[in-house]
Amino acid sequence: MFVLTTLCLALGVHAINGAEAPTVQLNDGHKMPVVALGTGRGTAPGSESVEEVRRAVLDAISVGYRHIDTAAIYNDEAQVGAGVGDAIAKGLVKREDLFITTKLWNDKHAKEAVVPALRESLRKLNLDYVDLYLIHFPTATKADGSPDSIDYLDTWRGMEEARQLGLVRSIGVSNFNSTQLQRVYDSSQVKPAVNQFEVNPTMTQEPLVKLCKKLNVAVMAYSPFGFLVSRKNADAPPPKADDPELVKMAAKYGKTTSQIVLRYLIERGLTPIPKSTNKERIAQNIDLFDFQLTEDEVAIISKFNKNVRVIHPVGMKDYPNYPFVTEEPSV
Ligand SMILES: NC(=O)c1ccc[n+]([C@@H]2O[C@H](COP(=O)([O-])OP(=O)(O)OC[C@H]3O[C@@H](n4cnc5c(N)ncnc54)[C@H](OP(=O)(O)O)[C@@H]3O)[C@@H](O)[C@H]2O)c1
Ligand SMILES: *[C@@H]1O[C@H](CO)[C@@H](O)[C@H](O)[C@H]1NC(C)=O
Repeated sequence: MFVLTTLCLALGVHAINGAEAPTVQLNDGHKMPVVALGTGRGTAPGSESVEEVRRAVLDAISVGYRHIDTAAIYNDEAQVGAGVGDAIAKGLVKREDLFITTKLWNDKHAKEAVVPALRESLRKLNLDYVDLYLIHFPTATKADGSPDSIDYLDTWRGMEEARQLGLVRSIGVSNFNSTQLQRVYDSSQVKPAVNQFEVNPTMTQEPLVKLCKKLNVAVMAYSPFGFLVSRKNADAPPPKADDPELVKMAAKYGKTTSQIVLRYLIERGLTPIPKSTNKERIAQNIDLFDFQLTEDEVAIISKFNKNVRVIHPVGMKDYPNYPFVTEEPSV
């Protein structure tokens, strides 16, 4: 406990209790646990069934996760809700101990579509509020996936209304680039509490992270392992799981290279969202709070940066508000 407390002080975060992940304070006063279970790839075609998501959520809560990340488009909100229900029924947690994040899909960007979309997510999740609701992507589409020209500032007004109604505690964005984040920030009553975007050793995102810190917008880091885990792209840039630099650090701390990469994101003040449906890996991915990387080690990992994305939705690259058009300028 002493070690954990010291570590958390060093992190500028504090533990809920010894067994759980620490939290970060959001700009609206709410607290967000710094490791979230990702559920986003549990429903990929040809991948595992959505039922595995229900079990993964229960397993995750059993080993101390208090934050679950889902989205309307993942088509697994019902399974996330069932897993949460299982954990509550077993007496592991109460609803108020958990932090549930879900996201608004691109075809619900009209201001008046936001509240109904969130109500539908809540119905599937079997919850009466979520802790965090994110605009999944700045780009709007029609129901058939073709481009729409809705301004995400209109969407943000719908998000503010959802918050006003008590359907969600904190609101934020995802995949917003620095121009877009700054624009929402400058022209809204309720500031985004979170921006969720890709951060990993090959996509370190220093400029966007720096802007978020300046604006006091917390960062959730998706695809946290980057190309460390097996990816379709055979000529993906390093590091892989057997990278010598990472293996050296893993041996030093008695951890796996995956844990080194997650801890790297935590040292940078981010909230990683590791996805797993495997019980051992779920446990491993939150067993991060009994060691600390040095500044030099953080710098070594940051040097892998290539500005190469795991998630690159190029199908939308010609749509209005497509965010990944240029590299972020240094600030
Ligand atoms: N906002 C957005 O647009 C957006 C986009 C992408 C992702 N996300 C969110 O971020 C989450 C994570 O992103 P992601 O799924 O792309 O990537 P990821 O978490 O970096 O990688 C997931 C892969 O890593 C494997 N894995 C997990 N833990 C491991 C470990 N300890 N050692 C080795 N392999 C491990 C998983 O397999 P097993 O399941 O077999 O362990 C899975 O194949 C998503 O689930 C979603 O919630 C959000
Ligand atoms: C963010 O996306 C918008 C819309 O595509 C684009 O105009 C702007 O240049 C982008 N900003 C950065 C920093 O990439």
